[in-house]
Amino acid sequence: MTQRKIGTGFGAHSTTDDVLAGIDLTGVTALVTGGYSGLGLETTRALVHAGAHVVVPARQPAVAEVALRDIPGTEIHPLDLADLTSVRTFADGFLATGRTLTVMINGAGVMACPETRVGPGWEAHFAINHLGHFALVNRLRPALRPGARVVTVASSGHFLSDIRWDDLHFRTGYDRWLAYAQSKTANALFALQLDRLAAESGLELHSFAVHPGSILTPLQRHVPREEWLAHGWVTPEGQPAEGFKTPRQGAATAVWAATSPLLDGHGGAYCQDCDLAEPARTDDMLVGGVKPWATDPVAAARLWELSAGLTGVDAFPSGAATDRYSWARSANRL
Ligand SMILES: NC(=O)c1ccc[n+]([C@@H]2O[C@H](COP(=O)([O-])OP(=O)(O)OC[C@H]3O[C@@H](n4cnc5c(N)ncnc54)[C@H](OP(=O)(O)O)[C@@H]3O)[C@@H](O)[C@H]2O)c1
Repeated sequence: MTQRKIGTGFGAHSTTDDVLAGIDLTGVTALVTGGYSGLGLETTRALVHAGAHVVVPARQPAVAEVALRDIPGTEIHPLDLADLTSVRTFADGFLATGRTLTVMINGAGVMACPETRVGPGWEAHFAINHLGHFALVNRLRPALRPGARVVTVASSGHFLSDIRWDDLHFRTGYDRWLAYAQSKTANALFALQLDRLAAESGLELHSFAVHPGSILTPLQRHVPREEWLAHGWVTPEGQPAEGFKTPRQGAATAVWAATSPLLDGHGGAYCQDCDLAEPARTDDMLVGGVKPWATDPVAAARLWELSAGLTGVDAFPSGAATDRYSWARSANRL
């Protein structure tokens, strides 16, 4: 996978309406995790506007009902990505309907939370942002129809951390930004490996990671307001800082990655500003780009094995009958 801009005619200011102009999604069923808040809400709105039917799994179905009440063509089902039983129940329910998906957008996420443990003591960012989506996609694989696209919303937040192979769950001291960063690197590596495994299996399925840009949404809820200015997110007047996008601009790259024919032949790519991202040349997250550890195919394969071992789900199992996950279990020190 070569991370080079392809020149799409779109950019940082493009909106969901721009990238969907002329695209008819009538008959398409899409699934958008987090599709009732922030960028996900705008993603749902845009896909429905283009004709799609959108399935919105929700941690808080009652909140989703209110957010989506004016958007016809949506349906809401309970799903907590922090709970693998919930993931399984949702996926089994969807599969039982016999319906298929053409688009899956993994947009749900948390950022900079206080230290939180879920499941068997997993760090919450890694568990929700990565492992929950890993399990969901693997369980829903039979529903992904030929030509389907899976888009995973990563972030330039990945700049701050590679996968912490020796301390995945922050047993040696917690840092909320490193926890978010690791989970976003995991999102990028997941997208890369999913595309590769689908190709090896002869599946007509493509996978992309996207960085949406910087957008003020409820995602920042765990960051005290007084830190927003220090982070450069807002002006002293409290307005979004220069370089920040609107939600319609922020959701555009995911919607574009889910639908654009320009991405044919670029499966596994990390995208931003409605194009492939270039390798990051600075540490400025507002400028973006992609760091080498988020596009490392060896790390992507290793993370997949590790995630399959942790979640117990793998829609692309290797033929080996041996315990190929034993090293992963010992590496994560559960
Ligand atoms: N906003 C930005 O500047 C920015 C930048 C880079 C990347 N991103 C990425 O963009 C994605 C969307 O972020 P956003 O800005 O739209 O944030 P948001 O408005 O907070 O939306 C996040 C969504 O994720 C859902 N969610 C959280 N925990 C969940 C769980 N355990 N199970 C199921 N759903 C869960 C939330 O549901 P509840 O509200 O019910 O918890 C919410 O619907 C995230 O992956 C984020 O990392 C955002």
